[in-house]
Amino acid sequence: MCGIVAYSGPKDASKILLEGLVALEYRGYDSAGLVTTHSGIFKAVGPVAELKKKVPESVGGSTGIAHTRWATHGVPSELNAHPHEDCGKTIALVHNGIIENYQELKSALQKAGHTFSSETDTEVIAHLYESYKTAGKTPKDAFLATLRELEGTYGIALIDRAHPDVVLVACMGSPIVIGIGDGEHFIASDPSAIVRHTKKVLYLNDGEVAIVTPRECQVMTLGAKKISRAPETIEWEVEEAKKGGHAHFMLKEIMEGPEVLRTSARGRLRPEEGDVKLGGLLSITHELKRIKRITIVGCGSAYYAGLVGKYMLEEYAGIATDIDVGSEFRYRGLPLEEGAAVLAVSQSGETADTLASIREAKRRGLLTLGIVNVVGSTIARETDAGVYNHAGPEIGVASTKAFLSQLEVLALLTIFLGRQRHLSDTEAKRIAKELASIPEKVEKILKNVEPIKRAAERLKGATNALYIGRKYNMPIALEGALKLKEVSYVHAEGYGAGEMKHGPIAMIEPSFPTVAIAPRDSVYAKMISNIEEIKARKGPVIAVATEGDTEIAKKADEVIHIPETHEMLTPILSVVPLQLLAYYVGVAKGYNVDRPRNLAKSVTVE
Ligand code: AGP
Repeated sequence: MCGIVAYSGPKDASKILLEGLVALEYRGYDSAGLVTTHSGIFKAVGPVAELKKKVPESVGGSTGIAHTRWATHGVPSELNAHPHEDCGKTIALVHNGIIENYQELKSALQKAGHTFSSETDTEVIAHLYESYKTAGKTPKDAFLATLRELEGTYGIALIDRAHPDVVLVACMGSPIVIGIGDGEHFIASDPSAIVRHTKKVLYLNDGEVAIVTPRECQVMTLGAKKISRAPETIEWEVEEAKKGGHAHFMLKEIMEGPEVLRTSARGRLRPEEGDVKLGGLLSITHELKRIKRITIVGCGSAYYAGLVGKYMLEEYAGIATDIDVGSEFRYRGLPLEEGAAVLAVSQSGETADTLASIREAKRRGLLTLGIVNVVGSTIARETDAGVYNHAGPEIGVASTKAFLSQLEVLALLTIFLGRQRHLSDTEAKRIAKELASIPEKVEKILKNVEPIKRAAERLKGATNALYIGRKYNMPIALEGALKLKEVSYVHAEGYGAGEMKHGPIAMIEPSFPTVAIAPRDSVYAKMISNIEEIKARKGPVIAVATEGDTEIAKKADEVIHIPETHEMLTPILSVVPLQLLAYYVGVAKGYNVDRPRNLAKSVTVE
């Protein structure tokens, strides 16, 4: 996600814009830029502080727009930083979201003589608006006509130097809020850039447009039908606004899970065809067809996501899949095989151990792929091809929304590779349709947190805990244990439930709780046996079970229900309660769950 700020009023716009960008920097920080109706464009790579160095004391102009970027299309660079202009340099705009049909729009505009200066999807909007203005349309009609051609998501603020006190604003799947001041208006991606000026705000809904001047804010539909709506008053201060009103970034990011799952699949998942389009892999489609073996590498949660991916790829893409933590991969004498590939999973794209593994794989001449969240990061640049998560910046040190996105992208990759091999049309459609329904199933879990809070009450006094699962949910037992360790410092161990008899069951006693992940899947009966063995030794059991399962309630002490889904996709649902469980225990123990002790968000040292 990126940060948009705009202003129209009597004051010096550039000061207000820079201040707003600082408040929004948590939304994206690889580059930033600003422009007013009376200034040139200022851009800088890196944090807003770099932009500040380039902007003179006062650039003039009391109407302007600004942007802090989280790259999705086009690496972080000054060229790709927003604002973007038209050919005539009379229009500038900033955008948050993804324009899915930008390639076809761009080629049509280029054929019509427009020249582009960036690799972004955003720039097509400026040239499209220009083409309508040149055709004689008013700013409003040119803007509406432009928006009607866009497919995908956008939050837009656009200025037209021919109309120096107007900001044209639009919202579709990417938030826009308008602050109403006295003879001035503030526009931003979220209230954290507005609350210091005014608490009176108007949220634009998807499909709405606003024409904003210092004294007016005219809201309408894409069809130009006027809308009148009373403004709201927000009570947040800046810091709370950054967290969307949640107490911590970790909670905010867990709650963002459904939206992140939709964004990660947007323009990629084709449920009706049971297929997937992964633009980042198009250049190596033939090499992918020839792959006979994949080795996944990652660290921490990324490794556990990869472990789920191993089960997916083997069962549904029919590809032998190996996996290793980044720190160990390099010590293996991996035989160089024809058709071998290495897949790195990394949110930051900078984890030293994972990067070292990719470099080792390249040294051995293996095909390297990446599933990475940060566009333009080192792993993204050094792998031969890959798929970006588009999960937006993850501020909490503990990976939550990014982990969900990693599981989803691994499912997309499984369908893609499976369709190249023997995955049947029926099965592919079944998985794809179920994957499309996963975001609303996560929403359902997030709407019923009471059982999770009760489970946290049981765990917060524990000094140890065991997490167990089988098959697709064995990695989720490992991830759930890591989450609890990371944010609450309670020692937790994740185990394949089948291993209980080979040692761990010796630990079971009334003070030693077990979290058992037991959805109705192909290994459910065995999980029930594990739960019974634990109960026979008076161990408390918190079970994650499929909604409607009344059997398990007779055996477990607490039951957290998740909706039914395809077995391959249960990890995306079963991990959500475990993320919240760790969060509630960490908060109950009074720890800083956003910045746990001793941990860094990205481990760039070996
Ligand atoms: C997850 O909660 C941790 N913060 C950590 O294990 C993390 O997943 C690991 O360091 C890998 O980071 P990456 O995804 O950025 O490579």
